[in-house]
Amino acid sequence: MKPLIDLRNVSKTYWLGETEVKAVSGISLPIYRQEYLSILGASGSGKSTLMYLIGLLEIPSRGKISFNGRDVSKLADAKLSHLRNGSIGFVFQQFNLINKFTVLENVILPTRYSKTRLKFNPKNKARQLLKDFGILDRQDFFPNKISGGQQQRVAIARALIMNPAVLLADEPTGNLDSKTGPEILRLIESLRKKFKTTIIMVTHEKEVANRADKKIYIKDGRLVKKYL
Ligand SMILES: Nc1ncnc2c1ncn2[C@@H]1O[C@H](COP(=O)(O)OP(=O)(O)OP(=O)(O)O)[C@@H](O)[C@H]1O
Ligand SMILES: [Mg+2]
Repeated sequence: MKPLIDLRNVSKTYWLGETEVKAVSGISLPIYRQEYLSILGASGSGKSTLMYLIGLLEIPSRGKISFNGRDVSKLADAKLSHLRNGSIGFVFQQFNLINKFTVLENVILPTRYSKTRLKFNPKNKARQLLKDFGILDRQDFFPNKISGGQQQRVAIARALIMNPAVLLADEPTGNLDSKTGPEILRLIESLRKKFKTTIIMVTHEKEVANRADKKIYIKDGRLVKKYL
């Protein structure tokens, strides 16, 4: 089986003035369709940077990334965002919703950036997702008027509206309480069966990472242990 996303010896370096920050160093990692992978590591270890590389939000300083067999490490911005918009959904710790838009408007946002003809009606699909997630009654609310758990459900609906092959979640329960956090994890995990989504979970919590089928541990930007 060929990987959906394949990282080969990928590094990402940032420059802070004269100082070189090696956020990710020489990571090779194949990601297969429908797998549930977690990326575990301490604060500053490079988890988010690795996730941005996997999600094509950042281009590598060195190494190669392929998506569906195609080398994407040197694609121009416009092509990269097109690919990302149709194939990858993101969920963040801070929800990252737009407060001046309603819940429904937030969920349909990715459809507005789509350059291909949609095979579905954005509003109907958004409402169906909100219904599946038990928050259809909040569709006309603004994000700052609903709870954190509800905001994260909205963010997940937004991440899913384009039917992405992959969902990347960066500490999705980091801002939630001990009851809501596990509910959100279960919701994310349920997407694999329901939508055949590949799930990549970034976390610093072992208990969260252990729920995945496959777990990698990173330290100082390096992959130190690979549990397969
Ligand atoms: N845009 C940037 N410019 C400069 N340095 C950066 C940038 N983004 C990340 N870094 C640095 O790269 C390293 C890895 O950061 P990253 O955000 O990937 O870690 P993390 O594991 O996600 O941490 P946390 O658990 O705190 O979110 C850190 O030393 C960080 O300061
Ligand atoms: Mg991070």
